[in-house]
This record gives sequence, C-alpha cells and structure tokens, in this order.
Amino acid sequence: MLIKKRGSHLIPESQVTPETVYLNRRSILKGLGMAGASGLAASSQAGIFDNLLGGGEAAEVPQAPRKPLQYTQDKAADLSLTPEAKVINHNNFYEFGTSKTDPAENSQHLKTQPWTLTVEGEVENPGVVDVWELMQQSSLEERIYRMRCVEAWSMVIPWLGLELGTLLKKFKPTSRAKYVAFETLYDPKQMPGQRSRHFGGGIDYPYVEGLRIDEAMHPLTIMAVGLYGKTLPTQNGAPIRLVVPWKYGFKGIKSIVKIRLVEKMPPTSWNRLASHEYGFYANVNPEVDHPRWSQASERFIGEGGPFSSTRQKTLMFNGYGEQVASLYSGMDLKKYY
Ligand code: MTE
Repeated sequence: MLIKKRGSHLIPESQVTPETVYLNRRSILKGLGMAGASGLAASSQAGIFDNLLGGGEAAEVPQAPRKPLQYTQDKAADLSLTPEAKVINHNNFYEFGTSKTDPAENSQHLKTQPWTLTVEGEVENPGVVDVWELMQQSSLEERIYRMRCVEAWSMVIPWLGLELGTLLKKFKPTSRAKYVAFETLYDPKQMPGQRSRHFGGGIDYPYVEGLRIDEAMHPLTIMAVGLYGKTLPTQNGAPIRLVVPWKYGFKGIKSIVKIRLVEKMPPTSWNRLASHEYGFYANVNPEVDHPRWSQASERFIGEGGPFSSTRQKTLMFNGYGEQVASLYSGMDLKKYY
C-alpha cells in the first residue's frame, strides 16, 4: 500500500483550504503514486450498504489517463477536501462490482471516447451531444461540493462541470417537461455487473435516475466532466455524470448516455430495487432515518491514513438548505423521502 499516513489530524471543515494547500496536497499525492496492492477483502452486498472500508486504497491496476481541463476556480467553498486518492478509490459503480475498490479495479478499460449524449422527449430541439466537444466548448466551472452517500459516509469533492440547466435550455424544454430521466450506458461486454445479477448487485440495468424539472434547472445541479483539475476517472463516471449536492449520492448517475424530458415521474434504479429504503427525492435529511440505520451523522472521509475518518453531524439538505429548501416548501419530507 503506497498511500502513507500523513499526520493523523483532520483539517476542520470550517477551515479555508487555500489553493496552495490544495495544490500541495495534489503534488504529495502524485509523489506517492497511485499504484499499489489493495489488500482489501471484497464484499459483495446486494443493496447499498457501507462495507465500513475507509477508502483511500490505491487500485492495483494502471489507471486510464486523464486529461487536464480548463476551468474557473470555485472561490466560494470553505470546505476541506477529501484527498484525490480517496475520491477515486472508494466508489460505488455497481456495473463494475459492489465493493468500494471494484470500480477502480474493473473500469479502466471502459471506452469513453467517443461518447455521445442524446437529449430527447419533451424538448423542441432534440439532439445528440458529442461530450468531448461539449467539454471543449463549455466554460467549465469548479464546484467544491459535499457528497453524502446514503450509506452514511461523506466526502468533499472538487468537481468540474457545467450547470445541467444551461445544457437543457439549449434543447428548449416544452411546458410538458415536468421531470428529467437519465440513463447510464448499457454495454454488458464492457460492464461485468450488467452480465451478472450477483456481480452487479441485483440492479436491473441500465442504471436510471431522475429529477423534477425544477431540481434539474437549479444552479447547484451540474453535469460533472472532471474532478481535481482533470477529466473524470472511469470509476467516478467518465466521461459525464450528474452531481446534485443536496441529495444522496445514488442520485448522481454515472457515465450518462441519455437524458429524456418527460411528463411523469420516471423510475429510478434504487427505488425499483427497494422502494421502502430509497425514495425518488433522496434529499439528505438527518431527521429521516434509513429503515436499517440512522442518517443523523456520517463518517467524513478526509485527510489521514486510509482507514481514518471523522464522525460529523449530517446537515439538512447536506448543508445546501438555504439554496434549495424552497423547492420543497409544504412537502412532507418524511413521506417524500
Ligand atoms: N451510477 C451508476 N451508473 N451506477 C452506480 O452503481 N452508484 C451511485 C452513484 N451513481 C452508481 C451510480 C452511488 S450509490 C453513489 S454513492 C455515487 O454514484 C458514488 O459516486 P462516486 O463513486 O463518484 O463517489
């Protein structure tokens, strides 16, 4: 294992992470290298369940190259970041297996170039986007967001992307567009989890997700094409994935090939698998527990050795209530979980 302990202290979340610290950290991680023995026992869970691994174990396999991206920096966020090595080695991407280290180990051969994204349904101008052209033509922004998994672990990730609303407006949604449905690539040849119900955690593929149109058009909702200054690693959903920071991580569908604007609430993968556990809304809410565990607190995966993490309180709407609570005014959030 090459990721060494770099002091046991965690930078408090309230502390500003200056750019120098960010860059320093990046060069330290680079110096440590990304290859090493994982040595972790694989756990095969049907259903989202935290296997209690701290993350940060480097994948054994060589990682697919990532391209540097041009972007404007996020100067607003004052969060201490989860190190890049942990962001890219502690993943959920069941198409590549159900243990946290499976995606980094099994996804490196996913062919992400060329990649097209179809936008269809209730739009005046349906069309097909070349995702690599989109990356070149868009003014990409860095967004440093908290990421709270429904399994009660969390990270802070510097994403790069563009607002989903900006993208959707190009296709002119009609007045009948009430929801947005998303679909991941379906390619069992490339995605072993799609070939076996056991390996793929029992999900009916392709993985699908959805948002209400006002959630999709909200300025915090982004289509991410990168993290830590470079294009997305395959395990994090290359080349394009959804990020909705006030919702549980499973809403953040990866490697998207289709967006369809629709009139009715679309089906979503985890809700289909266990509707009493995973709702359509999936807003982070410390007051509404998962039937099998509390959502009041979370294990923050930050600096420190691979197994180090700190317990912290979970924030309503993951800390983005000021910006998004009005979307749900008058709604019973216990009923619409
Ligand atoms: N998208 C697809 N296609 N398949 C998946 O299994 N897992 C989801 C989400 N998007 C998943 C997915 C879950 S449960 C989480 S927590 C996040 O991706 C994890 O994102 P990360 O690995 O980049 O942290």
